[in-house]
Amino acid sequence: MRYNLAFIGFGNVGQALARLLTRRRQDLAAGYGVTWRLTGVASRRRGWLAGADGLDVEVLLNGGNAIAAGAGALPDVQAWLAAAQPHVVFEMSSLQASTGQPAIDYIEAGLRAGAHVVTANKGPVVHAYPRLRDLAESLGRGFRFESTVMDGAPIFSLFRSCLPLTRVSGFEGILNSTTNYLLARMEAGADLDQAVREAQTLGLAETDPAADIDGFDAAVKTAALATVVMGQPLPLNEVTRAGIRGLDPAEIRAARQAGRPWKLLCRAERTATGVTASVGPERLPEASPFAQVNGTTSAVHFATDTLPGLTITEHDPTPETTAYGLLADFISLVSAQEVTALAAS
Ligand SMILES: NC(=O)c1ccc[n+]([C@@H]2O[C@H](COP(=O)([O-])OP(=O)(O)OC[C@H]3O[C@@H](n4cnc5c(N)ncnc54)[C@H](OP(=O)(O)O)[C@@H]3O)[C@@H](O)[C@H]2O)c1
Repeated sequence: MRYNLAFIGFGNVGQALARLLTRRRQDLAAGYGVTWRLTGVASRRRGWLAGADGLDVEVLLNGGNAIAAGAGALPDVQAWLAAAQPHVVFEMSSLQASTGQPAIDYIEAGLRAGAHVVTANKGPVVHAYPRLRDLAESLGRGFRFESTVMDGAPIFSLFRSCLPLTRVSGFEGILNSTTNYLLARMEAGADLDQAVREAQTLGLAETDPAADIDGFDAAVKTAALATVVMGQPLPLNEVTRAGIRGLDPAEIRAARQAGRPWKLLCRAERTATGVTASVGPERLPEASPFAQVNGTTSAVHFATDTLPGLTITEHDPTPETTAYGLLADFISLVSAQEVTALAAS
């Protein structure tokens, strides 16, 4: 089947996904019978662009204008969805941690327009997961978000598809790559400002790095993970949070030399009444597997009632890794649809 795809957000991740889909075009066709065209792209600066006959991806990737890409500009998401007629919407706009908006509204609009929605944006998962899941189910559509935590590593799909009936009693992990990189640079002699500048040059830290340094990003990921894999909606303000800003660089270096490094640890635990969760710097024992999780690598360890311990480590992710998580969600959604169509025929 030929799928109309529409992207909301065309930054690092959106562009990486466009390149990945283009590179794997033959594989999608040969392996899954899936062909695709891009019928909509939206971003803050470009506006709502749609072209029912398909847009020129190369022109868009090269920064070309809407007319060259074959697109018309629409006033809002509703008009855009009506023009792009997407089977799948990829929502990849910037995180608004405190509300999850406007991404929540975009996802709802996409589902109501009849599309599956795949997002890389944690905000909607933290602020609206049960509602979006139930809406998708009631409409017979899919809502997927593998890339929201640990980029392309299979976490949500692992629990959904491979670990039936498994109950997660807790997890701990290093979920924010930027702070892990900053700690590594401080272990090597940099102060926090120097480490942040290096991370910004490499594209690892935002212009305003506070969301990473003060533990907000890690707290959002902790809440998203607890909400979905522990089945317990966890409001962001219930995650106890501390960042790495207060750590002394000399102490960070000494701790590493002593083999007991500082790391920003995310934790969640099931209790008799719900789930408690925290993000904060901890000095790890030498034997901890997390003591060896360095640079932009991230890792999470789950305690469950089926596998006593399960640890997943993702080494050195890039926006390409995140794009792969979105592609994997797309394939899982549409291959399920192809099987259903086959069974009905
Ligand atoms: N970078 C990663 O590896 C990674 C990993 C996991 C998850 N994520 C998540 O993936 C999403 C995208 O990340 P990114 O690195 O691609 O960010 P980015 O490079 O800053 O791109 C964000 C895109 O969203 C667009 N945008 C922002 N607000 C919008 C709005 N209100 N309506 C429509 N479009 C809007 C921006 O438009 P303009 O271009 O016009 O500004 C831009 O195209 C974020 O939610 C992020 O947390 C990223």
